[in-house]
Amino acid sequence: MSPIKNDDLLNVAVEAALAASNLVMEASDRPRVTSHKGITDLVTETDLNSEKTIIAIIRSFYDDHTILAEETGQDTNISDYLWIIDPLDGTTNFVHGYPSFAVSIGLFYKNEPLIAVVVEMPNMRMYTAIKGKGAWCEGQKIKCSETKQLERSLLVTGFGYEHEENWENNMRLFKQFTDDTQGVRRLGAAAVDICHVAKGSADGFWEYDLKPWDTAAGILIAKEAGCMVTDLSGNQFDINDNNILITNGHIHQNMVNNIERYLN
Ligand code: IPD
Ligand code: CA
Ligand code: CA
Repeated sequence: MSPIKNDDLLNVAVEAALAASNLVMEASDRPRVTSHKGITDLVTETDLNSEKTIIAIIRSFYDDHTILAEETGQDTNISDYLWIIDPLDGTTNFVHGYPSFAVSIGLFYKNEPLIAVVVEMPNMRMYTAIKGKGAWCEGQKIKCSETKQLERSLLVTGFGYEHEENWENNMRLFKQFTDDTQGVRRLGAAAVDICHVAKGSADGFWEYDLKPWDTAAGILIAKEAGCMVTDLSGNQFDINDNNILITNGHIHQNMVNNIERYLN
């Protein structure tokens, strides 16, 4: 058990996520200063400012914890506590004013997810979870959907910045699952997509090539809402895996079987 109270850790995560999301929302009305990490992989001043804000708040409470943040990497602290931060998930949406982006903060204790906060924007919906205590959205406990059949399901996926083999595979899955289900959405902010499965607005999510900061908070929120979280083969998901499948559980094995069939 964590020697620091879970509620105290959650309060810090919430304070950091709220400060960062307010900063992101204020910046969304101003021109965005953009530079490129890759041809289509953008980073804005807001990504950097949000990250700075989150780290400063976490550091003001726990200066010995380890922090892994998308834009600045991992610090040199050695600790059982690892904060994993995506200061702005869905940067491309943010830059274009497309309404799906988020701040995501996950805290692992001894390599297991313990605390999670995602603030979905621009609607400022906050999702939180504590391991073993359930998942919440705006003060309401959330549960994944009860949809049992794939043909009744709504799915969501994403496409990373690298257009390589996994991207081609995902195009095939996108096409096939569009045929098998009531639809596949592609919104552009993985943390938001995962929270939508957790609260039952979608029945399943999969993606290739996500990074730990994209999923660290989402996987705990999803699990605590009753979701199943594995890799695309149905094996236990590790935060460093390069593919992920999250569903309401009922359609999980069916999706795993279909994925295997469609890619072979
Ligand atoms: C991206 C988003 C997107 C996903 C990409 C991620 P970023 O994160 O989550 O939905 O498809 O793979 O890199 O770069 O906007 O933080
Ligand atoms: Ca991200
Ligand atoms: Ca990001």
